[in-house]
Amino acid sequence: MSLLEQIDMSRLPQHVAIIMDGNGRWAKEKGKLRAFGHQSGVLSVRDTVEGAVKAGISYITLYAFSTENWNRPKLEVYALMELLVSTINRETKNLMENGVRLNAIGDLHSLPSKCYRQLQETIQKTSVNTSCTLTLALSYSSRWEITQAARSLALDVRDGNLNPEDINERIFASRLNTADIPDPELMIRTSGEYRISNYLLWQLAYSELYFTPKLWPDFRREDLYEAVIDYQKRERRFGKTSEQLQSF
Ligand code: IPE
Ligand code: IPE
Ligand code: MG
Repeated sequence: MSLLEQIDMSRLPQHVAIIMDGNGRWAKEKGKLRAFGHQSGVLSVRDTVEGAVKAGISYITLYAFSTENWNRPKLEVYALMELLVSTINRETKNLMENGVRLNAIGDLHSLPSKCYRQLQETIQKTSVNTSCTLTLALSYSSRWEITQAARSLALDVRDGNLNPEDINERIFASRLNTADIPDPELMIRTSGEYRISNYLLWQLAYSELYFTPKLWPDFRREDLYEAVIDYQKRERRFGKTSEQLQSF
């Protein structure tokens, strides 16, 4: 039985978030420049997204560039931004064929204008697609996102449009970049690092976390399927006891 066939379609995660890590180490192992690792990582993105569509996963969110990544050497940042523009441009056709709608979260205005324009163009073009929403986290930091949400609520209170007493989790979540996206049930990080690195801190509150030693350029749809199968073996208790869950 193939890995895809082993997935229980009745308990499929709706949303899988991924921290694509290990491009640099992958390139170094091969005696190549870090930029080569990033380029190779694009193949993993394509295969993983196609695999997600085949499995029927509705939302996939990829951490592509963190706010902290701006502190990398200028040349690497430049290479990543160029790669972003060329990849989004080249992959638009593929996204259309697979019914994938592109979306982005993060401080998008801090991206070079060429990147921003290409991103908006493809987001616009793919907005008719309904199979899967692919969200790229770009110049993204979860603390930044949460701070923005707090500021927007504060401004509404100041202007008399919101009572502080009315602020609840639902309203707070509606001010995050992910307002229209359900929380991820599963978060995958590659490269054997066991940390969240400022990714979706609010949204991951009850997600199942899956860590794999594979470096991102080696990751393929089968690895996604393995993570989903692992996720399906887990019992999500949300604070309850195991007995309470079994009585349903
Ligand atoms: C992930 O790979 C890609 C980005 C952060 C843009 P890295 O570039 O972090 O690779 P390692 O972790 O140094 O191996
Ligand atoms: C997290 O990877 C960000 C992305 C994958 C884009 P990093 O490689 O930047 O994370 P740290 O610095 O090891 O925590
Ligand atoms: Mg890294």
